[in-house]
Amino acid sequence: MIIAVDGPTASGKGTIAKALAVHFKLPHLDTGLLYRAVGRQVQLNSGNPEDPRDALAGCAFPGALLEDEALRSEETGGFASRVSVHPVVRQALFERQRTFAMQPGGAVLDGRDIGTVIAPEAEIKLFITASVTERAKRRWLEMQGRELDLDLREIEDDIARRDARDIGRADAPLKAAPDALVIDTTHFGRDQAVEAAIEAAEEALSR
Ligand code: C5P
Repeated sequence: MIIAVDGPTASGKGTIAKALAVHFKLPHLDTGLLYRAVGRQVQLNSGNPEDPRDALAGCAFPGALLEDEALRSEETGGFASRVSVHPVVRQALFERQRTFAMQPGGAVLDGRDIGTVIAPEAEIKLFITASVTERAKRRWLEMQGRELDLDLREIEDDIARRDARDIGRADAPLKAAPDALVIDTTHFGRDQAVEAAIEAAEEALSR
């Protein structure tokens, strides 16, 4: 069984995907991490994320980079969003994600285009969303927890910019698959969001 969890940054999709993986005893892949690793590698190479050749070179990142704390920073998120517009980058990362999705027994993947491009045949497709203001607040709290004092307004602007880039790109834009269940977590706490997703997934399975 394949479970696709898509949605914008800080919508709660990662938390939900992890909880679904535990609930259904499936392996989980955070595909955003792959794009973050490419973005980080381009940065380490002093490359230009807007240049498709530099972005493609970033796809040769070493596996150990996936464990790097720096991947979780806002800055790397911005680089990831910029390299992810290039079709060559999406193509380079496709096989790895597809193979993970198709493993025997199934898997949970979260990202932007899992239900639309990577695994359109997924039995369960969820699209997790929340208002920009709420997502900025969550990201700000997360950064505070890591003792990073960032400006809330700046985070909100950054998220809005990233959303626009992810939604507006020609190749695999961020959008809900027509058969995805949309869950708005704006007014949900963590547990409520997870509960709503598990309920939606169980209901989709019983149909
Ligand atoms: O989900 P996360 O914020 O870690 O993703 C970082 C960036 O990677 C996103 O802003 C998006 O541009 C890109 N991404 C993507 N397709 C995916 C996952 C992430 O384009 N499946």
